[in-house]
Amino acid sequence: MSDRIILAFESSADETSVAIVQNGRKILSLEIATQIKSHQRFGGIVPEVASRHHIEQITVLVDAALTDANLTYDDLTAVAVTYGPGLVGALLVGVTAAKTIAWAHRLPLVPVIHMEGHISAAQFVEPIAYPALALMVSGGHTEFVYMPDEYQYQVVGDTRDDAVGESYDKVGRTMGLNYPAGKTLDEMAHRGHARYDLPRALMHDDRLDFSFSGLKSAVINLKHNAEQRDEPLNADDLAASFQAAVLDVLLTKTQQALQQYPAKTFILAGGVAANQGLREGLTQLLQDFPTTNFVPVPRELAGDNAAMVGAAGDIAYRHGKRSEWDLNARPGEEF
Ligand code: KG4
Ligand code: ZN
Repeated sequence: MSDRIILAFESSADETSVAIVQNGRKILSLEIATQIKSHQRFGGIVPEVASRHHIEQITVLVDAALTDANLTYDDLTAVAVTYGPGLVGALLVGVTAAKTIAWAHRLPLVPVIHMEGHISAAQFVEPIAYPALALMVSGGHTEFVYMPDEYQYQVVGDTRDDAVGESYDKVGRTMGLNYPAGKTLDEMAHRGHARYDLPRALMHDDRLDFSFSGLKSAVINLKHNAEQRDEPLNADDLAASFQAAVLDVLLTKTQQALQQYPAKTFILAGGVAANQGLREGLTQLLQDFPTTNFVPVPRELAGDNAAMVGAAGDIAYRHGKRSEWDLNARPGEEF
């Protein structure tokens, strides 16, 4: 059987990325152009700026991906692309590039949902045994995704307000940290002590839903009150207290989720999967579930990248998923 070689695109937010993935499990090349510096002074992503950067980068990255993998268009089996969710103008750049290349080279076009990509990056560690359960945590999502079998995605728990990465970024902003603040807060948390009392929402509710906006507001209030009293908080301790509250919720909900949805594989995916405390906490928790294999996506592949789209694209391709030439960006797409 010949190898499947997929050219993959990701441009949903502030990372332009192109990758070539073999059989869904081997990265032949991965190019990522991050725009973070252009957005930092605005404290978040500016959509028009993102689209312009994507346009400038995308063809350069396709050439680099082919050169690095030592391949030509003739070697490709299919083209996969993230078509949603995300910023519409940003997504359109990847979708248009993917459609153009697929059409020009007579290749099948495979549509991928962004979260499908994040979760499928677990395949770079090992083949996924099903049923599988994923905790998908990023700047836009905080959800449990149950997969009874390959290419079957069911959201069984979701956030009612902010995503966990979003709350890291918002708390970081009030503390004067650069966007995105997740990594910095994670590092500060490891230096600090969790001595400030912060709320944990929906902990004693056996539904698998999350709420993080109250925690974010509590941090902001705590900080303002301390400033008014002229007793500034210790920043590392505040980061540690915030992270302790987040982890408490994520770990408790994961325990409930694994009891309700027994799985052979538990996947940790999305940008927040890079969090050291979360990885350690879940490793510990999973010891109570000896029949479940814990597969955290490697830290370097946890954030947005096109290799994950190649992994998801390979699964979708094998399941016969194809797009017509009218594929459009869908900014609000969910599973
Ligand atoms: O998946 P991703 O790259 O983009 C989205 O799809 O949203 O996730 C980005 C999010 C940001 O909110 C960022 O602050 C967060 O992931 N993040 C972290 C860490 N590294 C990145 N959050 C907590 N701890 C980290 N180490
Ligand atoms: Zn993402």
